[in-house]
Amino acid sequence: MTVPTQYPKVTIVGAGNVGANAALLLLLKEVADVVLIDVVDGVARGKALDMMHMRSNEHFGPTIMGTGDYAETASSDIVVVTAGIPRKPGMTREDLLETNAGIVRSVLAGALPASPDALYLFVTNPLDVMVNLAYDLASLPPARLFGMGGVLDTARFISAIAAETNSQPADIEALVIGAHGEAMLPLPRLARVQGTPLSDLVDAAAIERIVQATVQGGAAVVDALKTGSAFYAPASSIAEMVSDMLNPCGRVLSVCARLEGQYGIEDVHMGVPAVLGRKGVERIVELPLNTEEIAELKNSAKSIKAQLADLLQVSGSRMR
Ligand code: NAI
Ligand code: 2OP
Repeated sequence: MTVPTQYPKVTIVGAGNVGANAALLLLLKEVADVVLIDVVDGVARGKALDMMHMRSNEHFGPTIMGTGDYAETASSDIVVVTAGIPRKPGMTREDLLETNAGIVRSVLAGALPASPDALYLFVTNPLDVMVNLAYDLASLPPARLFGMGGVLDTARFISAIAAETNSQPADIEALVIGAHGEAMLPLPRLARVQGTPLSDLVDAAAIERIVQATVQGGAAVVDALKTGSAFYAPASSIAEMVSDMLNPCGRVLSVCARLEGQYGIEDVHMGVPAVLGRKGVERIVELPLNTEEIAELKNSAKSIKAQLADLLQVSGSRMR
C-alpha cells in the first residue's frame, strides 16, 4: 500500500546495491517518495518494506514501495535506471553490452508508457553507450534523458585531492568530464582548494597520483570487494543529481548529457559540466579547455559513437 505524501515521485529501476542505496538516501534526505522496481519483485518489495520500518527511528517524511509492476510507477517525476548486470567471469565486454542493452530496452518499454513526462537518469554500465542507446530508443527531448558517471568520478577526484592536500572536500572545486571509464578526463588544471589552484599547492607527482586514484577508483573498490562494484558513492551521486533536479540550486555537475555543438562535438551524450533543474539538463557549461583537453573529449566522443554503432549493428533490429 502506498501512503500518499506531498513529495515528488521518483522511480528507481533495479533494487540492487546501487538502486536500493540511492532509494535510502532519497528517503533520509527527504527528497522524494520512491517506487523501487525490480525484475525480481520480491527483492524490491522486501527492501522497500525494510526501509519503511526505519521511519520511526529516522523520522523521514517520504515513503517507499517496492514492486515488479510498472503500473505502480505511473506519473513519476524522475525515473532512475540502475538495472543491469556487472561483468562476470567468462563474459566478454560485448556480452555485457548486449545483455545490459537488452535490459535498458525492456526498462524503457515498461517505464516510458507509465511516465511519459518524466526525466530519465541512466546509471547502468557501460554508462556512456547505455545512455546513447536509451536516447536512440526513447525519442525523448535531449534535456530529459541523461546519465550519471561524472558526479561519481568527480567525487573520487575530490576525495583524492582532499587526501593529498589534507583539506576538506567541501573546500574543493573540481570536475571530471568525458567518458565514465578509463578514458575519463579529470581536470586538475582547473581544480581549486579554498580558491587556490591545485597546482600551487602540490607538485606534478602528487597531481599524477590524484589523477590515477580517480581513474582507478572504481577498479580499486572491485578489487577489494571481489563480488561486485561500488555502490555507496554511486548511490550518493544519484541522490545529488536527483536533489538538483527537484530543488534546483544552479550548481554545476558533471552530467552525461547530449552535446549539440558544445566543445565542437555533436550528436552524442558524454560527461560535460551542466546545470540540472526541473526540466532536466537546463544548461551545458563550456569551460575554457585547452587544445589537448578538447582533443581528448573529441576522441572519447568518437569512441562512444563507434561503440554504439557496433552495438546496433550486432543487435540489429532487436534493439529498436
Ligand atoms: P546489482 O546486481 O546489485 O543490482 C542490479 C539489479 O538490477 C538487480 O536487483 C537485478 O535484479 C535488477 N535487474 C536486472 N534486470 C532488470 C530488469 N530488466 N528490470 C528491472 N530490474 C532488473 O548491481 P549494482 O551494483 O546495483 O549495479 C547496477 C548497475 O549500475 C550495473 O550496470 C553497474 O555496472 C552500474 N553502475 C554504474 C555506475 C555509474 O557511475 N554509472 C556506478 C555503479 C554501478
Ligand atoms: C564505478 O565506477 C562500476 O561504474 C562503476 O565504480
